[in-house]
Amino acid sequence: MSDDFRPGLEGVIAFESEIAEPDKAGGNLRYRGVDINDLVGRVSFGQVWGLLVDNGFDPGLPPAEPFPLPVHTGDIRVDAQSALAQLAPVWGFRPLLDIDEQQVRDDLARASVMALSFVAQSAHGQDSPMVPQSRVDEGRTIVDRFMIRWRGEPDPAHVEAIDAYFISAAEHGMNASTFTSRVIASTGADAAACLSGAIGALSGPLHGGAPSRAQHMIEGVERTGDATRYVKEALDRKERLMGFGHRVYRAYDPRAAVLRDTCERLGAPRYEVALELEKAAIAELAERYPDRTMETNVDYWAAVLLDFAEVPGEMMTPLFACARTAGWSAHVLEQKRTGRLIRPSARYVGPGPRPLSDVAGYR
Ligand code: ACO
Repeated sequence: MSDDFRPGLEGVIAFESEIAEPDKAGGNLRYRGVDINDLVGRVSFGQVWGLLVDNGFDPGLPPAEPFPLPVHTGDIRVDAQSALAQLAPVWGFRPLLDIDEQQVRDDLARASVMALSFVAQSAHGQDSPMVPQSRVDEGRTIVDRFMIRWRGEPDPAHVEAIDAYFISAAEHGMNASTFTSRVIASTGADAAACLSGAIGALSGPLHGGAPSRAQHMIEGVERTGDATRYVKEALDRKERLMGFGHRVYRAYDPRAAVLRDTCERLGAPRYEVALELEKAAIAELAERYPDRTMETNVDYWAAVLLDFAEVPGEMMTPLFACARTAGWSAHVLEQKRTGRLIRPSARYVGPGPRPLSDVAGYR
């Protein structure tokens, strides 16, 4: 075996996948061969879940089931993660190792639907009267139902925005949370454990925590009215510009392009200021990192679109998690098929053999 050391596993190919993998050139992103540009606005997120997991639009996702809400911590992402962690004992999910592919697929579908209805219900407010299930059932698509559960009578343009966002954020190859879901799946743990663990990985600011920070930057530019100065000052403080740069892309993220166009089409109120900040950020990053192309990533335009749909900053990561249940589920199933435990190695660079008495604190 090669002794190559690749910090952060950059460029390491550890899997073969039929689901999706972004290319560095960043011209497009395809889910099982279909360009996301052809999906947004034509099919719903529920169908995309089916495309990713089943390689077809049917049978799709099952109806939502009642689930007892756990303790409310005030952080919907944390609550969703713990609600998923409780699913196995509550719904009798068994380890992936002990069930067949069809059962894994069905458990993932039930858990994904639960995650969406849980997030919508939590966003609606634990203390407000629930939107009647009969009203929720009137929704044509899963995103329709999600928005009705959350808002009661959602603005159709907001539903369209969330559907576009969910589709664009549904899958993105071997990112940190998807890798996490596959690692957990490879141990044979249950489907809900895979999704719950993936949400933990998604929560970090360098992954799924970026849109609300990008929104914060856009609001900052709106207040100060000088994008270039804002960007320069942030970089001088050694801050990262949220929504820029990407581990894979050295070009404009194709998802960002789809969401930017959706923002323009739907008339997002911060579209113009976001364009201005984007231009200033790309120019300044190019000047400071001439050897490294840093462009806009999905989280930047996601922030502008979610702002249009009146999604508060703290809901952005939970929404990302809802969208990504599709990609995670597809990868968990693909991992189950490999039957292989993921277990990389580290090069040991710690102390050599030494006596116990050398260890600080030993008496
Ligand atoms: N703003 C300012 N500087 C940046 C940025 C940024 N957005 N991105 C990278 N850099 C700088 C780093 O500070 C570092 O500089 P240094 O060499 O002087 O220390 C250099 O570029 C390389 O940074 P790495 O972290 O090694 O680059 P990598 O390609 O691994 O990072 C990442 C990718 C984590 C996305 C990074 O670009 C970043 O932090 N972006 C901001 C957060 C963000 O938008 N996250 C969402 C990503 S998309 C998604 O997960 C859906």
